[in-house]
Amino acid sequence: MDFVSFPILTQKVFGKRLVYLDNAATTQKPQVVLDAMKNFYETSNANIHRGIHTLAERATLAYEDARETVARFIGATADEVIFTSGTTQSLNMLVRMLGKNLHAGDEIVLTMMEHHSNLIPWRELAREKGLVVKFIPLTVGYTLNLGKARELITTRTKIVAFTHVSNSLGTINPVVELVDLAHARGALVVIDAAQSVGHLLVNVERLDCDFLVFSGHKMCGPTGIGVLYGKKKWLQELEPVFFGGGMVGDVSSGPERAVWLASSQRFEAGTPNIAGAVGLAKAITFLEERGIRQIEAHCVMLVEYAVSKLREISRVKIIGPNEGSLGIVSFTLDNIHPHDVAEILNKEGIAVRAGRHCTMPLMKELNLENGTTRASFYLYNTKEDVDLLVAGVRKVLEVFR
Ligand SMILES: Cc1ncc(COP(=O)(O)O)c(C=O)c1O
Repeated sequence: MDFVSFPILTQKVFGKRLVYLDNAATTQKPQVVLDAMKNFYETSNANIHRGIHTLAERATLAYEDARETVARFIGATADEVIFTSGTTQSLNMLVRMLGKNLHAGDEIVLTMMEHHSNLIPWRELAREKGLVVKFIPLTVGYTLNLGKARELITTRTKIVAFTHVSNSLGTINPVVELVDLAHARGALVVIDAAQSVGHLLVNVERLDCDFLVFSGHKMCGPTGIGVLYGKKKWLQELEPVFFGGGMVGDVSSGPERAVWLASSQRFEAGTPNIAGAVGLAKAITFLEERGIRQIEAHCVMLVEYAVSKLREISRVKIIGPNEGSLGIVSFTLDNIHPHDVAEILNKEGIAVRAGRHCTMPLMKELNLENGTTRASFYLYNTKEDVDLLVAGVRKVLEVFR
C-alpha cells in the first residue's frame, strides 16, 4: 500500500526482500515521522512549560499541538490526554491512581487474553490490597464468553479492564457490550487499545470508556511515547502517582502538601518525550491521510487472504477467530517449536514473532506452552508478503518432514 514511504522496508535480509510481519510488536516509521522528529531537534529543541525564550515557546507549542492532535484523533479533549512512555506506563500509572480508591474485597474483572501489561499491575495491586481479580474466559472460537462476562461483572466489580484487540489472537472484543455491562454495575472501564488505535477508528466518546491507553510505536510513531486517556470528570478527581518538576502549582519545604497543577500536566512529572509527541502527532496525520477505515479494511483483507492460504496446508492450525480478526494471524505447525519456525522464516527475509506474546495465562489456557508463530500486518504489507509467508511456512514443513 505505502511501501516507499518507509525507508527501513527497502532493505534486504539474507539477500531477500525484507517482509516485515511483526507489526503487533512494533510498526515501522514513515519518512515524514523521522523528518518531523529530526526537524524538531534541529530547530525547536528546548524544555517545555518552563522557559520564556523562543525555543522554549516553540517546543511547548509543538508538544501541546501534539496533545491536541491526539485528542482530536480519539475524540477526546486535550485536557483528557496524558502523555506517557507507552501502554505499559499508562497502565501502571492508572492502576496506582485508581488503586487509591479500592479496598479489600473489591473486584477487578480482566479477560483471559490480556497482555501482561494489563494483568500484572492489577495482580500486584490486588496482592497488596486484598482485591479479587477475575477473568472472563474464552469460547472455543477464541472470542470472549459474554455469558460468563455477565456472571462475573457484578456490583462488587469496581474495574473492568480489557484489551480492545488481542495481540495474540487478533480477536476484536465487543467494547460496547462490555462497557454497558460494566457501567450497569457501577464499574469503571479501562481499555487497552495498544492494538487498535491507528488500526481502526477509536472514538472514546462513542465507546464511552472511562480510560483508554495506547502506544505510539504500534501506529507508525516513535517508541517512548504513549497515551493515557481519562474522562475529564475522573482525571479531575484522581491524584498523581509520579512527582517532580512540571506538575506542581505550589510547593514549600514545610509538611503541607504541594498543590498540583489543575491540567493533565499534573500527571506528567519531569521532562516528557517532547520529540516523541511531535513524532506521534505526525504519525497520526500520516495515518489519517491514508484513512483509518482503509487501513483497517486492508489489514482485514490481508488476514483473510493469509488464513485462506494457510488453511490449504493441513499441518497448520490457526489460533484465532474465524472472523473479526484485526491484522493478526497466529498459528502452530504440528509440534514444531515457534522459535524454529521464526528462525527459518528469518532466513527467508520474513520477520514474524514467535512465542507467548506476553500473554502467558492465555497460552497456558490453550495448552500452547511454546506459544504460537504470529504474523501481524499493517498498511505497508501486501498480498505478495502473504504469499512469501506461505511459501516460507511450506519450507519449514519441508525441513521438519
Ligand atoms: C495488547 C497490548 N497491550 C499492551 C502492550 C504493551 O505495549 P508497550 O510495550 O508499548 O507498553 C502491548 C504490546 O505488545 C499489547 O499488544
